[in-house]
Amino acid sequence: MRLNNKVAVVTGGASGIGRATAERFAREGARVVVADKNHLAAIEVAQRIGQDSMAIAVDVSDSKQVQSMIREAHERYGRIDILINNAGFGIAATVVQTDEEDWDRLMSVNLRGIFLCSKYAIPVMAAGGGGAIVNTGSYTAVVGIAGRAAYVASKGGIVSLTRAMAIDHVGQNIRVNAVAPGTIASPYFDAIFANSDDPVKLRATLEARAPMNRMGRAEEIANAILWLASDEASFATGSVLTVDGGTSIW
Ligand SMILES: NC(=O)c1ccc[n+]([C@@H]2O[C@H](COP(=O)([O-])OP(=O)(O)OC[C@H]3O[C@@H](n4cnc5c(N)ncnc54)[C@H](O)[C@@H]3O)[C@@H](O)[C@H]2O)c1
Repeated sequence: MRLNNKVAVVTGGASGIGRATAERFAREGARVVVADKNHLAAIEVAQRIGQDSMAIAVDVSDSKQVQSMIREAHERYGRIDILINNAGFGIAATVVQTDEEDWDRLMSVNLRGIFLCSKYAIPVMAAGGGGAIVNTGSYTAVVGIAGRAAYVASKGGIVSLTRAMAIDHVGQNIRVNAVAPGTIASPYFDAIFANSDDPVKLRATLEARAPMNRMGRAEEIANAILWLASDEASFATGSVLTVDGGTSIW
């Protein structure tokens, strides 16, 4: 029970990596706020994990909604110990192909969402004596990848923001780290497979990105997030933990 009595907010907690993290955290004794724009799916996750957890509907790019989410979580539990900034999405396009509106929309979720959730959660964490923040980056922030310009830029920004926040808030006993997942099987990719002309070939291509020749599982990223969020990582701040089956080393 590595997170006994801790209160954790997990954004994007209704699906994929966020969902696996919410479930893992609950098994470790945390009370989890499943924060997601998909309210119905968030409610389903919160009900399934029980453990005095709750679902909150929030668009992380919307300041008012974020403020009200943090207020609601604080009022319910009296503290916030852990924030997992995980909500995000990708667009398959080069810079030339990316619509200006799509660029802004992606940045407003992937990067501004982390800014907003951290901005309003950190004072609550600090008042409670400190805490841990884990941002979901991507291995693509380190190595780059074709046809994902806005996404890769947002993930690079997340790595830099993680380091900046780690320095700024070390004096408040708040650790800030990032996880950099490789290609992970999730509902995000399920939708891509469903729309593909040749899903078998596409899956093989995605699997071949990693020396391990497979996609990762959401639970494998949740394990890394758990470590960074737990007291076991008490000397880790400003770090980026890559969990990608070796994709970034070849
Ligand atoms: N799946 C991968 O291969 C992979 C690899 C590297 C990084 N990531 C990152 O991991 C994170 C989770 O991805 P996933 O694969 O689990 O995706 P997913 O699509 O399964 O889950 C994302 C969740 O975020 C929620 N969400 C999206 N926009 C939101 C918003 N504006 N406000 C609140 N919630 C919002 C969605 O409703 C969904 O529940 C993302 O940041 C993604 O970039 C994923």
